[in-house]
Amino acid sequence: MTSTLGGLSTDSPARELVCRGCGARFPLAAQHACFECFGPLEIGYDLDALKRVTRERIAAGPDSIWRYAPLLPVGHDPATRVTLNPGWTPLVRADALAQAIGLRAPLWVKDDSANPTHSFKDRVVSVALTAARALGFTRFACASTGNLANSVAAHSARAGVPSMVFIPADLEPGKILTTAVYGGDVVAVDGSYDDVNRLCSELTEADEFEQTAFVNVNVRPFYAEGSRTLGFEVAEQLGWRLPAQVVIPMASGELLTKIDKAFRELVETGLVAEAPWRVFGAQSAGCNPIATALHADTDQIVPVKPTGIAKSLNIGDPAAGLYALEAVRRTGGWMDYADDDEIRDAIRLLARTTGVFAETAGGVTVAVLRKLVASGHLDPDAETVVFNTGEGLKTIDAVAHLVGPTFRVRPSLRAAREAGLFRESL
Ligand SMILES: Cc1ncc(COP(=O)(O)O)c(C=O)c1O
Ligand SMILES: [Zn+2]
Repeated sequence: MTSTLGGLSTDSPARELVCRGCGARFPLAAQHACFECFGPLEIGYDLDALKRVTRERIAAGPDSIWRYAPLLPVGHDPATRVTLNPGWTPLVRADALAQAIGLRAPLWVKDDSANPTHSFKDRVVSVALTAARALGFTRFACASTGNLANSVAAHSARAGVPSMVFIPADLEPGKILTTAVYGGDVVAVDGSYDDVNRLCSELTEADEFEQTAFVNVNVRPFYAEGSRTLGFEVAEQLGWRLPAQVVIPMASGELLTKIDKAFRELVETGLVAEAPWRVFGAQSAGCNPIATALHADTDQIVPVKPTGIAKSLNIGDPAAGLYALEAVRRTGGWMDYADDDEIRDAIRLLARTTGVFAETAGGVTVAVLRKLVASGHLDPDAETVVFNTGEGLKTIDAVAHLVGPTFRVRPSLRAAREAGLFRESL
């Protein structure tokens, strides 16, 4: 029998919360800020328990993030999970894209639009809400730029738990509809994501919200760990080795730091052989506070008021920005940003060359990949993985005016010939 620790099962390798700022340690609980320095908290693991995990054990697991259950901060009993079983998404070899942008080494697209609610957020939500239920929360919530709201609403519906998700009122209609359909409360806030996040932080302090788990506020340390599965998966799909370069979209910067953390853990546990990797971060020109700090060679991340079409990445005051800078500097990577036209071009380029239709965040990432090759920051002769974290069908307005039917014809052979359909195919 497994015992529980404040509701959390002790068959998980998670042992404590550790402050990312000052290193102070706290018991596992629904706590996200350090009592000493207010720094963000992260899960601390029993390294020996992680080291006992073998490739064989992982391979024997399900085709979802739960194959990595022994590396996650929740119990192993499937019956306790709040999940849509996301993960094990395709790693697509992208030779035509590589050629189009001047990469000579293998290029892969990790296509995380192939998740139940079509973004990587299903990974973080499955881990956060499984922890939240174990901790005794009876309602699920989040502050979201869109994809997180989709995922929290859908997970809550599956689990039969009430939900309340908070979004900026001016999100894409596709993102609002694909959240509201799951039936929980959707709170559209007249303000930016940063306003939404501030409101949610205040709500966690209210008595009426005591039983509410905000996945990216009061249970954030658990939420953040779910992103590591993207790093684990890429390594496993490459045959248990690390790619030399990864290009990752950034909003809060959390995803980037956790893919880097996953690579470090894989080396520490001996699951992959030690090899250098370089981490590259992608933002939009309308919201680029982390990349701007890197370019200015400073740790001062100056919050911005986001603009532009990449709304899912529009976090003007990024919580993990400092740690994203650290990961990029430590690994010898770089960051850049792309404007709206470059984003739209990149969405179409990715679609034409790989058959993957990305949302604007994927457009940002592919556009930045292209710029990094052109500027020489990315080595064209080193294997590269670019992350597509969301689905194009949720942000069709981004390209709606740029694509459409090639021909319009009356239904007759003659009309087809006259319209030019018989031209030689290339
Ligand atoms: C599609 C997509 N990609 C990437 C991100 C970035 O996530 P993070 O806040 O962990 O940097 C988000 C965040 O909302 C997102 O929706
Ligand atoms: Zn601290």
